[in-house]
Amino acid sequence: MCGIVGAVAKRNVVPILVQGLLRLEYRGYDSAGLVVVSDHKLHRVRSTGRVAELAEKSAHTTGNIGIAHTRWATHGVPSERNAHPHMSCDLIAVVHNGIIENYEELRTQLTAQGYIFGSDTDTEVIAHLIHSYYTNGHDLLGSTQAALAKLVGAYAIGVVAADNPQKLIGARKGSPLLLGVGEGEHFIASDMSALLQVTQKVVYLEEGDVVELALADYRIFDAKGVEVKRPVNISELNNESVELGEYQHYMQKEIHEQPQALANTLESVCNSQSLIPGIFGAEAADAFDQIDSILILACGTSHHAGMVARYWLEELAAIPCVVEIASEYRYRTSVANPRTLVVTISQSGETADTLAALNHAKAIGHLHTLAVCNVPESAIIRQSKLRLLTRAGPEIGVASTKAFTTQLAALFLLTLVLAKQRGKLDMQQEQQHLHDLRHLPSAVMAVLKLEPEIAKLAKQFADKHHALFLGRGLHYPIALEGALKLKEISYIHAEAYPAGELKHGPLALVDKDMPVVAVAPNDTLLEKLKSNLQEVRARGGELFVFADAETRIHSSEGVHVMQMPEHAGFLSPILHTIPLQLLAYYVALQKGTDVDKPRNLAKSVTVE
Ligand code: M6R
Repeated sequence: MCGIVGAVAKRNVVPILVQGLLRLEYRGYDSAGLVVVSDHKLHRVRSTGRVAELAEKSAHTTGNIGIAHTRWATHGVPSERNAHPHMSCDLIAVVHNGIIENYEELRTQLTAQGYIFGSDTDTEVIAHLIHSYYTNGHDLLGSTQAALAKLVGAYAIGVVAADNPQKLIGARKGSPLLLGVGEGEHFIASDMSALLQVTQKVVYLEEGDVVELALADYRIFDAKGVEVKRPVNISELNNESVELGEYQHYMQKEIHEQPQALANTLESVCNSQSLIPGIFGAEAADAFDQIDSILILACGTSHHAGMVARYWLEELAAIPCVVEIASEYRYRTSVANPRTLVVTISQSGETADTLAALNHAKAIGHLHTLAVCNVPESAIIRQSKLRLLTRAGPEIGVASTKAFTTQLAALFLLTLVLAKQRGKLDMQQEQQHLHDLRHLPSAVMAVLKLEPEIAKLAKQFADKHHALFLGRGLHYPIALEGALKLKEISYIHAEAYPAGELKHGPLALVDKDMPVVAVAPNDTLLEKLKSNLQEVRARGGELFVFADAETRIHSSEGVHVMQMPEHAGFLSPILHTIPLQLLAYYVALQKGTDVDKPRNLAKSVTVE
């Protein structure tokens, strides 16, 4: 959940570290810090605020080698003393992303050896451990390797020593870290967006790798300590894809990128005449032949995508499907069916709960695994047999938008491929679905035109403390997603219910101060939904309805109708997501919250 950057160069690395942290701020933003080595001393600057504050504080700091960190607090409150880098005896400095599970035991041992702790973090034990080996004759690489052998938990780290201005050590296990290769300079970072300012060349470090960076070269050692070569890749990302451009916030940019993100995700199928299992990997056809059910595991927004997929999979492919929150599944006793396809969904591919749920599923006997994910080199992709990459591009706003709609597109493809393989889809139906998918990006573009109208509507939410979201069937998860977006970035308490459930309790909450947002597609449940809306109106509730054309729901006293295009059939949930994203965004603007970095949250949740 934290972001780390490190650099060794002939130039001053402080601007590179700061610029890198700005790119990684989505990973955590409660404090930040950096350290550089110069004149055989560690020069550390830390701040409790955002990276911008650190940039000001470090404006006069210079050095050719350094490490930096932006934090999402796990152990110890956000404060300067808990901000990274952590140091041992002014000799060793460490930045860390992850959690050291045995830190209490190590802290006790190190305290007994005379080490004095200056923070409440788990990270500080790493600095003291490395120091203890370093002052006992090991070099920086050997000391780091020896210290890592004592750690239980997850880490990506960067290490420097005051008396060694030539070497920077990086290591990863369970948390992401990559190596950037420059001309006579080298870097480490949690993700590539931090390094696009200096290089496109990247080495994806593997689990357990330790890397020693110097100006001229670098050496990588695997988990067994054996020196290894890893391929140098050219990153497909460019600076433009991680810059704000004409938009006020990343969330707004990412909402508007959805037509392109969907087109990219669907590119391989939309350009072909038929659907083939091969899009999920070479072994997909065989695997799909062997399965009789689906288990979807995910968290947050990705879980909502799974909930939509369940409706599709059962209706179109006639395959039983269960969707579980990953953090619940991993700790519950469940019965593995080796004929189940376990599908994990994750934007980042590094969500700790989803990854652990995947590994738990494998451990209890599940054989078939498939990941729907936005990050090609992520742990979830690497640990799954089959995969479909969403090609949404980097998603930087903490509130997930384009990742969600592209996940839906990918899961719809999975549904169609399984339906076809199970004989539930004739050629005409297949062609119709492919036609609808090709049309999807322009359909989303049309819905985005509602933006000015939604911006006006949002003003009516700014003074509200609660909101209800209603949907039915396929659109119930969309109501859940709309409520999550609103609460996440505007801090308005929002809940979603299947509209038919209202009268079983939540209706008691409805009064003139409770706005009720309804997702109203023109589908078979429309008349039922209309009755539910009448129930709300009769109790004085104010309705905000996103209604498809021809639903015959009209604006009137206490009823505000946003006109959506014609009903898009099975793809309707994707279209109905867009106005709810925009609503949350404009309500947050009204409330003046930090849209891209809402309080207490971080983008990649790499801790339990
Ligand atoms: O990277 P993942 O898709 O695995 O992340 C899962 C959730 O943490 C994420 O969707 C979260 O709920 C978002 N902030 C929602 O906008």
